[in-house]
Amino acid sequence: MNSSAPDNITNILDVESIRADFPILQQEVHGCRLAFLDNAASSQRPRAVIDAVSHYYEHDHANVHRGVHSLSHRATDAYEGAREKVRTFINAKSASEIVFTGGTTESINLVAASLGLNMGPGDEILISHMEHHSNIVPWKLLCERSGATLHVAPINHRGELILDEMLAMLGPSTKIVALTHASNALGTVNPVSEVIEAAHALDIPVLIDGAQAVPHSTIDVQKLGCEFYAFSGHKMCGPTGIGVLYGREDMLERLPPWQGGGEMILSVSFEETVYNKLPYKFEAGTPHIAGAIGLGAAIDYLNGIGMESIAAYESHLSAYAGQQLAAIDGLRIIGEADNKVSVHSFVIDGIHPHDLGTVLDHKGVAIRTGHHCAMPVMDFFGVAGTARASMAFYNNAEDIDQLIDALAVAKEMFA
Ligand code: ALA
Repeated sequence: MNSSAPDNITNILDVESIRADFPILQQEVHGCRLAFLDNAASSQRPRAVIDAVSHYYEHDHANVHRGVHSLSHRATDAYEGAREKVRTFINAKSASEIVFTGGTTESINLVAASLGLNMGPGDEILISHMEHHSNIVPWKLLCERSGATLHVAPINHRGELILDEMLAMLGPSTKIVALTHASNALGTVNPVSEVIEAAHALDIPVLIDGAQAVPHSTIDVQKLGCEFYAFSGHKMCGPTGIGVLYGREDMLERLPPWQGGGEMILSVSFEETVYNKLPYKFEAGTPHIAGAIGLGAAIDYLNGIGMESIAAYESHLSAYAGQQLAAIDGLRIIGEADNKVSVHSFVIDGIHPHDLGTVLDHKGVAIRTGHHCAMPVMDFFGVAGTARASMAFYNNAEDIDQLIDALAVAKEMFA
């Protein structure tokens, strides 16, 4: 492979030493070097995260907030320490605003369930056409339960939100706007600040699905001003099964709990339940302690590299990948927004995305193929699915070159 990658890609980060931190990247697949380009589905973990989780299980595991013994204290300190790391990472005002959940999906379901208790016929929920199913189905379920109506803001053929039309859909009946920060299927980065500002002018709360934005950029929830921001640990080098719902304190105070059980209460009798303070009111049951600790370690790791450097590096690598892909005859990029994260969805004439994915796997290249849990996006572009290469800061130009070479092989096979 002879990379034509510009030098500026390699000048921003010491990617080779970063890659050495990820044990999983050191393997071969089907006898080929692994080019892992499925990061939008789930990223990989550096040794520091794996070690933090193992250390916890080997030395400190006990339930949190429940015991007077040393292990419970240690587990509680580590768990709450992780919450504080999340708080600083997204610049929330208070750790009370950081609710640990199972992931983005659960975070959105929490808001839909809790906020939805006060909704009824005539109320409206506004989302966009480029949402992941996890930011569609919870709202559809809420509409079925409450009689509220779901409205969908349109996108254009570049895969961009038609902002004017979305803003025109806001009105006195809109009870919440739920919008993805960055589309998992298209890569589009949405003008969330403009949407939040317009919604706030009408006193409408806004939930941002940040699953695909947090791993790639610096997020400041106070600057954004949104009421809710949801994201997952496993897309940002943390464990699976752990995620975050940031909720502005005044909003979380007003919302009723969504699940009942231990931890979310101060006192229980058969006559009356007194709920715990924030954020515990929303954390019923024993939480994913190891997951939170691993997420804290992932945040330390990302901070050690620097989110600004990560964003700058990925932007160059992504531009390089975009140019290489665009030069392939018969390849159509799905999602050509000006502002994108490092996600490239595409189709190739005459080759089913799943066949493409299989051929690429045999060349050591891992991509995702299918509808990416965004079937309305696929319908809009008139495709059943796409092939999607998605990058992280530990990818390098060699990964992109390997992808391009493997695509040439696939084209040859299906010619
Ligand atoms: N939401 C994940 C993806 O885009 C699973 O692949």
